[in-house]
Amino acid sequence: MTAADLATFIDQRKKELNAVILAHFYQPPEIQDIADFVGDSLQLAVQAAETDADIIVFCGVHFMAESAKILNPDKIVLAPVLDAGCPMADMVTGEQLRQWKREHPGYAVVTYVNSSAEVKAECDICCTSSNALNVVRSLPAEQPILFVPDRNLGAWINSQTGRGMELWPGYCPIHDQLTAQEIKEQLELHPEAVVVVHPEVSPEVAELADAVRSTAGILKYVQESSAREFIIGTEEGFIYTLQKHCPDKVFHLARSEFMCQDMKMIDLEVLAKALERREHQIEVPEEIRIRAVQSLQRMLAIAP
Ligand code: 13P
Ligand code: SF4
Repeated sequence: MTAADLATFIDQRKKELNAVILAHFYQPPEIQDIADFVGDSLQLAVQAAETDADIIVFCGVHFMAESAKILNPDKIVLAPVLDAGCPMADMVTGEQLRQWKREHPGYAVVTYVNSSAEVKAECDICCTSSNALNVVRSLPAEQPILFVPDRNLGAWINSQTGRGMELWPGYCPIHDQLTAQEIKEQLELHPEAVVVVHPEVSPEVAELADAVRSTAGILKYVQESSAREFIIGTEEGFIYTLQKHCPDKVFHLARSEFMCQDMKMIDLEVLAKALERREHQIEVPEEIRIRAVQSLQRMLAIAP
């Protein structure tokens, strides 16, 4: 089938099933173009919580589809590729978090949504990189906090809020590779450019940036900025989104290799097959879901 045939099939099948297609900003261009909604992980969680579709097809990585299922136990949530995961989410298990909590009685636990349902079930409130500062500020100033799993996002939150949260040593293998040297080299090549990075980068890199934002935050920043040229410190798929929304601006990826392989596993053929066969259905054990949903709902009640 040609790309046009696949797109026609996807559209028809979507209507037959009353399905909605949600896609993360890091998805390949053809998936972003065919999706009903493209966004960052917070925007996608909000869409998943509010949709009246019967089936949610989640083009992203596993924890995102799992969050949609936690919020919608009565809907079918499909992940077109079950193996598309987030290596950072796998850096802490429910048992490891339970042990860490035993070692820190009286601490609240804030969990980045890039985590499993079992880890979310062990925490007090979730956050994404869009709302992390407001989530942490919503906790009483004297409340000690454990933060899992991203040490880089956690360090950035600490630097902005002055809260000495204890940080789990997880990290995003893609964002963590970006070095301060690479930013300096890009700045030598493009001295007029404004540097905007995702908070999953290391603290040394965040310190060199003009702005640190979630993906949706980077888009908003770029749209509102009077600058024309930007050095972007996040996954390469996002350059497509930026260029689509801001065709008159120039974007330089902060490093030549900036790809999350897990985000590139879905293409039109895979998406068509997922809709045709209604696969792969995400399931979350109910005793985990009822605890995990509370931490997601507490997060959704807080403004980004
Ligand atoms: P956003 O919340 O900015 O979409 O980030 C999700 C993610 O996985 C970044 O690597
Ligand atoms: Fe996970 Fe990093 Fe990929 Fe985001 S870019 S999904 S944090 S591995």
